[in-house]
Amino acid sequence: MNKSFKEFFYEDLEFIVFSGVYEPSDDTFLIAKNLHVRKGEEVLDVGTGCGILAVLSAFEASRVIAIDINPIAVRCAKANADRNGVSEKIDFICGDLLSPLRRSVSFNLVLFNAPYLPVEEEPKGWADYSWSGGRSGRETIRRFIETVSEYVKIGGRIMLIQSSLSNLDETLTDLRERGFKAKKADERRFFFETIVLIEAVKH
Ligand SMILES: C[S@@+](CC[C@H](N)C(=O)[O-])C[C@H]1O[C@@H](n2cnc3c(N)ncnc32)[C@H](O)[C@@H]1O
Repeated sequence: MNKSFKEFFYEDLEFIVFSGVYEPSDDTFLIAKNLHVRKGEEVLDVGTGCGILAVLSAFEASRVIAIDINPIAVRCAKANADRNGVSEKIDFICGDLLSPLRRSVSFNLVLFNAPYLPVEEEPKGWADYSWSGGRSGRETIRRFIETVSEYVKIGGRIMLIQSSLSNLDETLTDLRERGFKAKKADERRFFFETIVLIEAVKH
């Protein structure tokens, strides 16, 4: 019988991934290995997928908000927060990027393992949102950067994943124009692309 979910471990934590939800991969783990949440920080996880980054953040954070456009991902992330005993720390929201947030909230850390592949067609199902970054591959990232600054505290930081296939320099420039010190913090090289972790600090 086919199961409609997969299970995996990250360190000693157990997660499930529902069918139709992004299965954590090298890009996820590039953020996870660089993730340092300080005690009491407020964290926003955009595009939470199965919720792994929200769960990892919740152990030290005072509060985490996890958003995804995919309703199946939101259900999956809730299940993983329950499994790992951190559901009281995380609020889950189904919606588009930062649009569900009130203007008055701000965060010490914003995470986004963004969909970054250049794709000609509009997403056809929820799963397509995991990788479709529009024609340029930067469409979702560009919209995210347009408004993210409002939600980051001074001295707060963003961790954003992008591929070398979709114009990293434009992302760094966009972040700098909006008041961030932005740099490549880590990368993972593959035959056909490099996955880059961008870190940006608001000044
Ligand atoms: C590459 S996956 C990353 C999932 C998870 N954070 C991880 O690292 O494994 C990108 C996620 O962003 C979500 N997403 C794509 N476009 C979005 C949007 N406009 N608003 C909110 N979430 C979005 C997708 O549904 C998907 O879950």
